[in-house]
Amino acid sequence: MFEDNDYRMRLEEAVQQNRRQIGRDSYRLEYHMMPPVGFLNDPNGLVQYDGTYHAFFQWNPFETTHGKKAWGHYTSEDLVSWKMAPVALMPDEWYDKNGCYSGSAVEHEGMLYLFYTGNVKDEENRRSSYQCLAVSEDGMAFKKHGPVLHVPKGYTPDFRDPKVWRENGDWLMIIGAQNEAGQGEAVLARSENLVDWTFIGPIAGSGRNGLGDFGYMWECPDLFRLDGQDVLIVCPQGLEAEGDKYHNLFQAGYFIGDFDPSQYTYDHGDFTELDRGFDFYAPQTFIDDDGRRILLAWMGMSDDQEQNQPTVENDWIHALTIPRVLGIEGDTLTQNPVPEIERLRGERRHHDILLGAGEAFREEIGSCTEISMDFESPVEGQFEMVIRNDLKVTYENNRMVVERTVFSGKGTEQRAFFLEQLSGMRIFLDRSSVEMFINGGKEVCTCRFFPNEDDTGVELKTHAEVKCDMTLWNIKKDT
Ligand code: FRU
Repeated sequence: MFEDNDYRMRLEEAVQQNRRQIGRDSYRLEYHMMPPVGFLNDPNGLVQYDGTYHAFFQWNPFETTHGKKAWGHYTSEDLVSWKMAPVALMPDEWYDKNGCYSGSAVEHEGMLYLFYTGNVKDEENRRSSYQCLAVSEDGMAFKKHGPVLHVPKGYTPDFRDPKVWRENGDWLMIIGAQNEAGQGEAVLARSENLVDWTFIGPIAGSGRNGLGDFGYMWECPDLFRLDGQDVLIVCPQGLEAEGDKYHNLFQAGYFIGDFDPSQYTYDHGDFTELDRGFDFYAPQTFIDDDGRRILLAWMGMSDDQEQNQPTVENDWIHALTIPRVLGIEGDTLTQNPVPEIERLRGERRHHDILLGAGEAFREEIGSCTEISMDFESPVEGQFEMVIRNDLKVTYENNRMVVERTVFSGKGTEQRAFFLEQLSGMRIFLDRSSVEMFINGGKEVCTCRFFPNEDDTGVELKTHAEVKCDMTLWNIKKDT
C-alpha cells in the first residue's frame, strides 16, 4: 500500500508558517472562500448535510500551482460565514497518490458519501484514474473505500469528476471523459447501493447530438432538473475562440434539454457560457434544504498569466465565487447571489443619478462593496464605469466590454459579450475580485483584479442621458 503519512503534518506546518504573512496581504478576500495557503481550484462535494452547508475544494497546500490535490473543507450555517474544517481527503493511497481530484457528495441514510477521482501517475508521468468513494458519519472524518469504477473500454485515463444524484430510486453518476478518438464526452454510470457501479455510456459530447467538434476533454459535468428542464453544465477543453466567445483558456457553460432517464438519452440545445469574465471555471451545483439549486465555481483560471497574480509572492492563489441561486428564464440559465449574502450589508448610500451626455459621476466605494444599479430606461449610446481605477466596463451597441490591467502590470486585456440591453446590475466587490450580475442574473461576469490600495472610487461616464438609481452598501463581516 502507498502511504504518505506526513502529508497532514506538512500541510499543518505550511498553514502555520504562512499564516502571518498571508494575513497581511491586502488582496486577501473578505467574504470569499480561499485556501489558507497554496493553490485552490474546483469546488467539490457541495451539500447541505444535517443542516450544515459543506464546500470542499481542490487544494495543493504546498505550492501556488497544480500538484497533489487534497480536499480542503469549509462549512457554513448560512452560506455567508465559512469556517475551515480539517482537511477531508488526502492523496495517501495507491489509487489517489497523485491527487484526490474533483467530485461530489450525497447524503444517504444519515451518512455522507463523497465521490472523487483518484489520480495516479507512474514514473513516466502516465496517468491512471479511478472513481473512488469515501464515507463519513459526521461530515468531518472520512473513511476511504477505494475505487468503485474503473476507466471503461474506449476511454482514455482523462476520465474524472464524478457527480452523483438520485434518479427514480437509482443512483446515477455523470463523469467527464475523453474517448479514444480524442473527443470530450459526458458519460453515465448507475448504481443501486452507491458502492457497485455499472458503466452506461455517453449522453453528450463532441460530435454528438448535433454538436460539431466540441473539445478534446469535458471536465466537471453536472446534470440536474430545474423548472421542468434538464440542464447539463460542463467544462469543455479545446474550443477555439469564436467572435466574442470562448476567449478563456477553457470554457464553463451549459446546455438546456431533455434527459430521458429510462433510455439514458439527452437532447439539448446550444452551449452557452455561464460567465463572461476572465475567472470562472469548474462550477458545481447542489440542492439545499429549501429546494434551491445553488452554484459555486472556481474564481480562477490556470492560464499563462496566472503566476503573475500578486498573491503568489505571499504563497496563496485563487478563491471560490459567492454562492449563486440558479433559475431559468426562457432558454437562459440565470444566476443571482443567494439572498443570505445581504447580511453582509453595512452602511447604505443611495443616489438618484441623472447624467447628461458627456457628464461624469464619482463615488467612493472602498474595497468591499455591493453596488446595485437600476436604469430607468435601458442605456443608450456609450456608458462607461471604471471600478477602482482598474476594471473598466463599457456598454455600447448591444455589447459589453470588460477590461482589466494584465497581472504583470503591463497593458490591459478584454472580454466582451452580446447584451441586447442594459437595465440593471448588481456588483459584488471584494478586495481583489468583482462579480457582476447583469439584468437580473441573465449574464454574469466574474473577474479577479488587483487595484492599488488607494484607488477606492467608482466612476460613471456617459455619451447619452442616463437616469439610474444607485445603492451602495459597505460590506462588513462581523467575524
Ligand atoms: C478542473 C480539474 C478537474 C480535476 C481537477 C484537478 O479544474 O482539472 O477536471 O478533477 O481540476 O485539480
